[in-house]
Amino acid sequence: MRVLHLTDPHLFADRKGSLRGAVTYDTLQAVLAHYRASGFAADLVALTGDIVQDDSAGAYAHCRDLLAALGLPVFCVPGNHDTPQLMRDVLPNPPFTYCDSLEQGNWLVVGIDTRVEGRAGGRIAESELRRMEETIAASRAEHVMICLHHPPVTMRSKWLDSVGLDNGDEFLARAAASGRVRTAICGHVHQDYDAVHEGVRVLATPSTCRQFLPRADEFAVDDRPPAYRRIELGPDGSVDAELIWVAGA
Ligand SMILES: [Fe+2]
Repeated sequence: MRVLHLTDPHLFADRKGSLRGAVTYDTLQAVLAHYRASGFAADLVALTGDIVQDDSAGAYAHCRDLLAALGLPVFCVPGNHDTPQLMRDVLPNPPFTYCDSLEQGNWLVVGIDTRVEGRAGGRIAESELRRMEETIAASRAEHVMICLHHPPVTMRSKWLDSVGLDNGDEFLARAAASGRVRTAICGHVHQDYDAVHEGVRVLATPSTCRQFLPRADEFAVDDRPPAYRRIELGPDGSVDAELIWVAGA
């Protein structure tokens, strides 16, 4: 299964809306144009949250229009900037799904909600952890990919770790206990991260708009360009991932 991982587009109802100098509609468009021209043919789009920046239905409508044009299922989980009710109202089903699960070949994909109302940091509710475990237990797929907004690891960045995932260790321990979770893909940190924890490859993909400076103690933006990740999930459980920076976007 081939996955196009997009995250943190931070769209506005106003197409000219910008986040720290990046016109987020334009940078998402540029990322999608790069994907289309790349020859990488995804089976699925994974969109790991912070879809909008201005709490508007109009911004979700832009997301819907831009991504529906790909003709692929779009597997969504919410980020701290999202409004779940608006997400469910505006993103029609199909091709969009919200914190769902799907099986293809030997792989199961599960979307987990890490959002806590009114907070930038995240926490996975016990009910979500249990849903993850039950969904895995009920599946015959040998390999699992989890999609979630907040990475379940520290980033060695004081300010980002202060808005991290409260129970990342518990998530990783319970994911690893299944023996089948190969990877967890995330957003939120607007930077590249790729490391194995408890046998689970944790991948954070930079945003389709502005990036944050890695390992910064105080909030700081990075001058790296918009990005996306191509992920290939092999029938043997292998996870091939390639990060693509879209220069000039
Ligand atoms: Fe974000």
